[in-house]
Amino acid sequence: MIVVPEAFVRYTVEREGAAGAAWIAELPGIVDELLERWGCVPDGAVMHGGVGVVVPVRRRAEGPAVLKVSYPHPGNVHEPDGFAAWGGRGAVLLYERDDERFAMLLERVRSTTLAELEGGEEVARVAGRISRRLAVPAPPGLPRLADQAEGWEEQLRKDAAQVAHSMPQRLVDAAVATVRELGRSQPHSLVHGDLHPGNILRADREPWLAVDPKGYVGDPGYDGGTLLKTRALAFLAADDVRKAIHHTVDVFAEAAELDRARVRRWAQFRAVEGALWGHRHRFRIARGGAELARLTAFAEHMAELLMEPG
Ligand SMILES: Nc1ncnc2c1ncn2[C@@H]1O[C@H](COP(=O)(O)OP(=O)(O)O)[C@@H](O)[C@H]1O
Ligand SMILES: [Mg+2]
Repeated sequence: MIVVPEAFVRYTVEREGAAGAAWIAELPGIVDELLERWGCVPDGAVMHGGVGVVVPVRRRAEGPAVLKVSYPHPGNVHEPDGFAAWGGRGAVLLYERDDERFAMLLERVRSTTLAELEGGEEVARVAGRISRRLAVPAPPGLPRLADQAEGWEEQLRKDAAQVAHSMPQRLVDAAVATVRELGRSQPHSLVHGDLHPGNILRADREPWLAVDPKGYVGDPGYDGGTLLKTRALAFLAADDVRKAIHHTVDVFAEAAELDRARVRRWAQFRAVEGALWGHRHRFRIARGGAELARLTAFAEHMAELLMEPG
């Protein structure tokens, strides 16, 4: 039986409460059952992300693989659909799936992620290329980002009203305009949905491959917004923050073959979302601390810098 990593137990129980604890108790049994059914033997220490355990295994036909079992949450339903549609192009191969168990057997790649790469420019280029490779016509049945637009707009307005004294209205107005103009009607591309550098792993079949997709239908520019958001700490340390942010937008857009203004606007919207999230949590729990305040202020600064071409 596998030992579920202690940190993963803690996150899951904190986030999901009793239902999380019950699932954790079942997890070693679920893993054993799948290992047997899929003819795999464990081959290394159990890894995890925020929502899933990833067990390195071997199977005769494919060699090194991983068994990923995610918490049964609606947000994790379409991950295998993404992998199936890509067929290994820009993402790891899907060998088996059990949707009821939220489980997949996937091609194993290396454990180094793009987040560990030093050069910011290369990070943006690799993420852009992956985004381009993943932007295939979406298969039917996946959730559409366009269907979230109304909810995004509502949330932006609601949050903005709550923090009216701490955040300039024009930042929110620009984000709302983006949601209306780019969010409501989007291309029918398959979009990764959580394309941060930690979800891009070093591989041999291709230099880098994506893992952990949400599997949405929409504008790949959305993934550019994710990348920009997750580079916030790197931008914070840059000598010239404005230049670093706009250069990242340009490099990502070029590699992804997307319009740079489009990527910039998605990133502006996501930065506003992030800043409002930060404000909201500071208000609600009043214990976000200095780090959250600092990041919130910086997200706001990013949203401001992303208002205009660099
Ligand atoms: N196919 C894979 N090959 C090798 N390592 C993997 C693979 N998939 C995931 N991992 C490892 O497990 C970690 C968590 O996986 P991920 O799919 O991102 O889970 P989560 O959905 O919980 O974020 C990754 O950061 C990586 O270290
Ligand atoms: Mg992940």
